[in-house]
Amino acid sequence: MDYSPYPERYSAISFNRCGKSGVMLSPLSLGFWHNFGDYNARDNALAMVQTAFDHGITHFDLANNYGPPPGSAEECMGWILHRSLLPYRDELFISTKAGHFMWPGPYGDGGSRKNLLASLDQSLKRLRLDYVDLFYIHRYDPETPVEETASALAHAVHSGKALYVGISKFPQEAARAIYRILSDMHIHVLAHQFRYNIWVRQAEQDQIPSLREMGLGGIAFSPLAQGMLSDKYLHGIPVDSRAAGPSCFLKREHVEEKSHQIQQLDVLAHERGQTLAQMALSWVLRRPEITTCLIGASRPQQIIDCLPALQHISWSQEELDKIDHIVGIRAPFS
Ligand SMILES: NC(=O)c1ccc[n+]([C@@H]2O[C@H](COP(=O)([O-])OP(=O)(O)OC[C@H]3O[C@@H](n4cnc5c(N)ncnc54)[C@H](OP(=O)(O)O)[C@@H]3O)[C@@H](O)[C@H]2O)c1
Repeated sequence: MDYSPYPERYSAISFNRCGKSGVMLSPLSLGFWHNFGDYNARDNALAMVQTAFDHGITHFDLANNYGPPPGSAEECMGWILHRSLLPYRDELFISTKAGHFMWPGPYGDGGSRKNLLASLDQSLKRLRLDYVDLFYIHRYDPETPVEETASALAHAVHSGKALYVGISKFPQEAARAIYRILSDMHIHVLAHQFRYNIWVRQAEQDQIPSLREMGLGGIAFSPLAQGMLSDKYLHGIPVDSRAAGPSCFLKREHVEEKSHQIQQLDVLAHERGQTLAQMALSWVLRRPEITTCLIGASRPQQIIDCLPALQHISWSQEELDKIDHIVGIRAPFS
């Protein structure tokens, strides 16, 4: 759909429909997992969100536990909205999640109704909003009956605190089960969120195959493998990178282990006329099941640098085979 003659910010973006729904999402979305907590500069956070929005990114992805400390990324977004973007609330698509550990005691974790609905109320307070556009169960909780989780998500919609609901990192059978239960309650699951990038392809077996039949949008997180699929680690580990920081999710060893492949992928990216980050995003977006890539960023320029990926998402089989070869996946029939 073409949104130009509207404001300049939509002129370069072609929006994707999120599964079988009325919701259109920007093919790149900005996530708040890192760099929006209390230890990060608020002005930089504001500049990143404004830069994203100014370039047509309408979807911002949060979770109750993003920070650190947990909750502070939502507080940061609440501050950003009131400082700058609240007049554009109806042009924004804001998601949050609950289901990972958030507060002590037996009720601050998992997929129970008790946890999910208390958490949603807390998130709305931190975000300073009356409703979120999308509320996710952040993980599959095998200890809680899926019917209970579904009833909490349905309540979130019926109470007007969430317009849509989604699931994150659900195994295929559990995804089908919660989808069926919610469908019987006349609630459509909007989207399934999972890790998907050149190195991490489990979603091709687990989540992606069932998206179409259920009509869910596919939302790929960590498409840049937390920054490893960019040119930032080509010449070592910069001091201001995630791998050099306190994050326990990306360590120096991860980068060192992939260093040789990063160099080879970078060569292929240049052959395609892209940066490595742009190629990594194009690779994820080549699949029609993927509605949007959730990128992270530590500075506004990174968001701008990712955008040209959207201009070149077509691939030859030879290029795809080269990627598979570099990362050690044998191309079919080769
Ligand atoms: N559902 C879930 O369980 C789950 C789990 C993980 C993530 N997520 C969502 O997905 C979002 C994205 O995850 P992610 O942060 O791992 O995504 P990512 O896009 O794979 O990595 C983001 C990092 O890549 C680097 N980067 C971004 N653009 C760059 C560019 N143009 N050039 C060079 N480096 C660039 C930055 O690293 P530096 O910070 O080092 O500069 C940035 O922080 C999260 O914020 C969250 O919303 C969801």
